[in-house]
Amino acid sequence: MKPEAVFNVKGRIVLITGACGIVGRHFTKVLSSNGANVAITDLDEKACQSFAEEIKKEYHTDPLGIALDLRKEASVKSCVTAIIKKYGKVDVLINNAVVKSKNYFAPLEEYSLEEWKEVMDVNVTGMFLCAKHAIPHMKQGSIINMSSIYGIVGPQKEMYEGMPTKPAPAIYSVSKGGVVMLTKWIAAMYGDKGIRANTLTLGGVSEHQLGGNDFEKKYSSRTPLRRMTTLKDTTGPILFLASDASSGMTGHNLVVDGGWTII
Ligand SMILES: NC(=O)c1ccc[n+]([C@@H]2O[C@H](COP(=O)([O-])OP(=O)(O)OC[C@H]3O[C@@H](n4cnc5c(N)ncnc54)[C@H](O)[C@@H]3O)[C@@H](O)[C@H]2O)c1
Repeated sequence: MKPEAVFNVKGRIVLITGACGIVGRHFTKVLSSNGANVAITDLDEKACQSFAEEIKKEYHTDPLGIALDLRKEASVKSCVTAIIKKYGKVDVLINNAVVKSKNYFAPLEEYSLEEWKEVMDVNVTGMFLCAKHAIPHMKQGSIINMSSIYGIVGPQKEMYEGMPTKPAPAIYSVSKGGVVMLTKWIAAMYGDKGIRANTLTLGGVSEHQLGGNDFEKKYSSRTPLRRMTTLKDTTGPILFLASDASSGMTGHNLVVDGGWTII
């Protein structure tokens, strides 16, 4: 076997949540350009279908664009049923969706319980629901749960002073920290069934920042690689985790953050 063959995902069936978001679109393109058939799921069915058309034209794969609302178990169940009807299995589950509620950046003392629950429902409970309904259709395979630097370290308060952007709220950190443990739990319990689960943790993605150039400069200056994470930085890691290249790895947290969390 040629060494690069271990990265082969041709024909693999991938279920990705939040596929129409900035990171989800990139992952979908990376895996499709390597021959995977991706079930493109997100809240807006039309957006999923039109993205699926785009992917089909560009990469000549067999994608499926389908609505999925992680807040509703019935929606997760029917989405997985439709995926199984089309492909018969799930090889890779990428739990990527994330929500920003209405008063997302409100201070802790003013955070409403409803909003706290809303974010938790999507960011963690949604992952549980996808795992619950997809695992019975995974003979073996890989689950990739998305986390963030703020799921493993606290926010840098001073970095946000005078900036147009604010630190992610406590619920983001709590939910993303929860992802790391959900991953370890699944890895421990399903390894003997050939199912691997790993977390992919990203640093602040350059293409996604609302903080402008000054924020990017500040962020970069306290990062060993002196820059924010880019979508391109995530290309190798997602292919690695989705393919047999990572076959000996489960329960791990792969951190792609330019070194932000080591200092
Ligand atoms: N962008 C960054 O700087 C960054 C940094 C670290 C980690 N991450 C992680 O990467 C992942 C993707 O982030 P992103 O920046 O692409 O986010 P994004 O906001 O661009 O996309 C998130 C997607 O999730 C979807 N979504 C929201 N609520 C949903 C629901 N109820 N059901 C189904 N889908 C729902 C949205 O419609 C959206 O398309 C997240 O898990 C995030 O924590 C991102």
